[in-house]
Amino acid sequence: MAEERSTAPWLDLLWLLFLAGLAILPPINEPHKQIILLLLGVFQLLERAFIQHSLQRWGPTIAVLAKLVLATELISHTRDVAPIISSYWPVFFVPVTTAAIYFGPVGTLLWTTLTSAAYCSYLIPALKEFKLEWSGASELMMRVLFLYLVAMTVNRFVMDARFQVRRYQSLSETLAEANRNLQQAQAEARRAERLAALGQLSAGLAHEIRNPLAVIKGSAEILKQKLGSADEMARELSDYIYTEVNRVSALVSRFLDFARPTQLDLRPAVLADIVEKSLKAVADQGADRQVRIVREYAPDTPRVDLDEDLCEQVFTNLILNACEAMGDQGGDLKIRIFGESTEREELAVAEIEDSGPGVPAGMREQIFNPFVSTKKTGVGLGLAIVSKIVDAHGGKVTLSDSSSTSFSTAGSSSSQQQGACFRVTFPAAAAGKDAMGVV
Ligand SMILES: Nc1ncnc2c1ncn2[C@@H]1O[C@H](COP(=O)(O)OP(=O)(O)OP(=O)(O)O)[C@@H](O)[C@H]1O
Ligand SMILES: [Mg+2]
Repeated sequence: MAEERSTAPWLDLLWLLFLAGLAILPPINEPHKQIILLLLGVFQLLERAFIQHSLQRWGPTIAVLAKLVLATELISHTRDVAPIISSYWPVFFVPVTTAAIYFGPVGTLLWTTLTSAAYCSYLIPALKEFKLEWSGASELMMRVLFLYLVAMTVNRFVMDARFQVRRYQSLSETLAEANRNLQQAQAEARRAERLAALGQLSAGLAHEIRNPLAVIKGSAEILKQKLGSADEMARELSDYIYTEVNRVSALVSRFLDFARPTQLDLRPAVLADIVEKSLKAVADQGADRQVRIVREYAPDTPRVDLDEDLCEQVFTNLILNACEAMGDQGGDLKIRIFGESTEREELAVAEIEDSGPGVPAGMREQIFNPFVSTKKTGVGLGLAIVSKIVDAHGGKVTLSDSSSTSFSTAGSSSSQQQGACFRVTFPAAAAGKDAMGVV
């Protein structure tokens, strides 16, 4: 249908010049002819703005119709007797080519037929005065055929140009999409680089700290035994040393877990079973007391090759975070497990969505980095470990944008944007894949 035209303004001026040329040719003193040519000129100048800004849908129809009416009128004022033989008949090329520009082949044919009918309508008064000879009829037919010929030729070029424009548009959309994907991949690569560097650093540090810690821990234990109940104060202090060193030692072990290369023991597994184990682990810690768990497990979720222990850790961390985010007042925890097909692969997807306050926009980029935490007692390793384990499986963990599901929390329902939704994807198990991997 209608399409925007982009002609240079000087082309319009040239057009006006041609109309002026017609105006000074015979019949020279015919005021109606001059007015119609002027109107055609003005309409040509305003046409583009008229079509673009008002009546977008009907603009092209009105433009062609206006030109057709003006052309028909021009014919009647350029020949007193029998306007059908007016030398100005080529003015009908104006509405016909306009239709060819704005409409498709069928529309162009219809408009050309209407234009030919308008022209041939002058036959009726002419036949009252004259007899139609064969030479006159063939001349008329030739003129009509020329109208069709020009209309269809112009329309073909216009259709070609439109096709090219559409092709370039879809090409540019594909390029923009590729560009977005590239930027996302670059951001992920930067995250992976940061993780690797921090991993190396913390591994070295933790390793160095672990040995003196073992010595301190052993010494505190011996000291505790030696002191017995002799000195209450000293015993209490050695107790503190012992428990605090234990805490630091556990922390260091967690660092090392994170920093060490992940040894995968891949076996075919059902994602829902692993998530259930994690839910049990969280329940054993009593972290889900105020939480209502909603399970949506699709039965046709593809099987995956996973290291069960490590993946249990992934979901335990995510579920614990969700429960911690909802806090004492609790809320809803939705767990969705389903299969998804992309162009390249089959995926098994798990989404953990809570009704807590969500992750602040400024933190979304960083939460997967180690030591990023907003909690008083948090270390900030949970999501870094999740990310590392999932990466090692060739999967992906993202904080999904669609954290806008409506939840009913503590008796009240709300449909505002809230909560966090973590999406974990694993490639579906492929036959003949290695069952062991090291990343
Ligand atoms: N479900 C969630 N809702 C809101 N914020 C979250 C959620 N999950 C993670 N976060 C934010 O991301 C931060 C990092 O989480 P991460 O699990 O890595 O560390 P942590 O929970 O603070 O400490 P820990 O090492 O004990 O897990 C959290 O401190 C919290 O601010
Ligand atoms: Mg955590």
